[in-house]
Amino acid sequence: MTTPSPLTQDELKTLVGQAALRYIVPGDIVGVGTGSTVNKFIDALAGIKDQIRAAVSSSVASTQRLQALGITVLDANEVEQLSVYVDGADEIDGSGHMVKGGGAALTREKIVASLAQRFVCIADESKRVATLGRFPLPVEVIPMAAQHIARRFAALGGQATLRLQDGQPLVTDNGQHILDVTGLTITDPLALESAINQWPGVVTVGIFAHQKATVCLLGTAHGVETLTY
Ligand code: 5RP
Repeated sequence: MTTPSPLTQDELKTLVGQAALRYIVPGDIVGVGTGSTVNKFIDALAGIKDQIRAAVSSSVASTQRLQALGITVLDANEVEQLSVYVDGADEIDGSGHMVKGGGAALTREKIVASLAQRFVCIADESKRVATLGRFPLPVEVIPMAAQHIARRFAALGGQATLRLQDGQPLVTDNGQHILDVTGLTITDPLALESAINQWPGVVTVGIFAHQKATVCLLGTAHGVETLTY
């Protein structure tokens, strides 16, 4: 008898993307995140597009994918509240606190998440951590403040690096830059998120503790685990 080969990371992303459909409220507007896992969710959502009113998207990339699949995308200003926001994460801890922004979409992700009653995080098992901080912390910054903010992270023991794309500073959908900060052990995500939010020039810090997940659909070797917080 042959042992079945373990699912690939891509297959796990597909599984959790499909599993998120069960949180969609028929007739509602759906909040949609950004990233390779969310792309699987968008593909699955296209299969039930007649059952939703529209989507609110957290990035130009997700908007383009949604529209290409025939899903109407509304501006966040047109919406007062969403029942659900579905997004991936770079890390998630045992309380549903996350680090996000690996795809540089953290600011719009936090905005759309804040409109939603429920944040459904979809992730493969590699994203689960005991303590946040292994993944470099993304921080969207106003370019003129980047060096000052980097020095503030250095005072906390972190090393901030400007994210580049094709040799040039990456420019976000909002026209700003991203610092990626290594060397932080984030033992109190709520307090650190609040503190960094106060630094002049910080647009958004990629700690999602005040805006944490309510549910995580985690793709594991044993199938999709549902974790609630
Ligand atoms: C984008 C994000 C993504 O959710 C995060 O980077 C995870 O992406 P992926 O599903 O590709 O691993 O925060 O800004």
